[in-house]
Amino acid sequence: MRQRYFSGIQPTGKLHIGNYLGAIKSWIELQDDYEGIFGIVDYHAITEPYSPKEMPKRIIDTALDYLAAGLDPAKSTLMVQSLVPEHTEMAWILNSITPVSWVERVPTYKEKARKLGVSVNMGLLGYPILMAADIVLYKSAVVPVGEDQLPHLELAREIVRAFNNRYGHTFPEPQAYVGVGARIMSLTEPTKKMSKSLGPRNYIALSDEPAVIRDKISKAVTDIGPGGGEMSPGTKNLFNLMSLFSTKETYQHFMRLYNERKIRYSDMKQKLADDIISALGPIRERRAALSLRPEYVKALLIEGSKDARKIAKQTLLEVKEKMGLLYFHEQLEEAA
Ligand code: AMP
Ligand code: TRP
Repeated sequence: MRQRYFSGIQPTGKLHIGNYLGAIKSWIELQDDYEGIFGIVDYHAITEPYSPKEMPKRIIDTALDYLAAGLDPAKSTLMVQSLVPEHTEMAWILNSITPVSWVERVPTYKEKARKLGVSVNMGLLGYPILMAADIVLYKSAVVPVGEDQLPHLELAREIVRAFNNRYGHTFPEPQAYVGVGARIMSLTEPTKKMSKSLGPRNYIALSDEPAVIRDKISKAVTDIGPGGGEMSPGTKNLFNLMSLFSTKETYQHFMRLYNERKIRYSDMKQKLADDIISALGPIRERRAALSLRPEYVKALLIEGSKDARKIAKQTLLEVKEKMGLLYFHEQLEEAA
């Protein structure tokens, strides 16, 4: 039997190459050996301002990117978090064993709390607890994510230990599986990670047209001058992208020019843009074809959510039994 695990992405719009290299690429690598449940985590997304009208479209957009990138619905399960209410039920249970001090020290929360002050909501504080619930409901032992999620995984492990100690061994301690592109930086502000929140110029979406990719790469921040010496964050990021999208020879060629202080960034950017465009070409084409079949995508999400729910229900029954919370269970099932 393939070991099972859960990973997810928030439906905040089209996915970018950071999501792809940091998370989805690992999902695809693992999909033969593991049974992956891939969530579109809308209950995480509502912890920050969003447009209710746009949410259904964003769910479909995210699913299109998952499928176009290469997730195979015959091997993996695609689901929507809010369609499986056991996630929030499990989160409540984990709330009751998690000290507030543990969540208050999570870096993402601290940063948001500092920015938002008194208007920081409970959902932001509980965000990593809901994430831990996502993970434990499927008894995930590995969780493929980008580097920015490591503090959340660390907390999930602490919560699992607390639960297992109190109620008896139930969950494995989830280990992060950090992929090749653990931390892709912004094209315009390369000291920050590539993220939708910094605006469209800072990221390359999986669905960007070739001309758009070329334009964004050509405007990416680099050093001025002929290279050599210590690399600036922008140049380092372009070399990192080159190591992920281009051949070894191409990477070594431009690295040699850099070290010999002969690099011309316009040449490097042109080559990098070509290689990104050809790598993303098949994804863009599959996406365009799938986007004509929204009903198919919707049906996959419904089926996937139903399948995920069966597993989630089973885990929750085991949890409730251990916690002395299983009353009239069989009679209720019969009545339903
Ligand atoms: P999010 O878009 O924040 O829901 O992130 C979804 C997944 O993509 C998580 O596993 C993140 O760690 C990963 N991810 C997001 N941004 C980046 C980035 N700039 N570099 C690498 N991985 C990323
Ligand atoms: N917090 C993750 C992010 O923003 C998304 C996420 C939610 C997740 N639940 C998860 C990732 C469970 C892995 C496992 O990227």
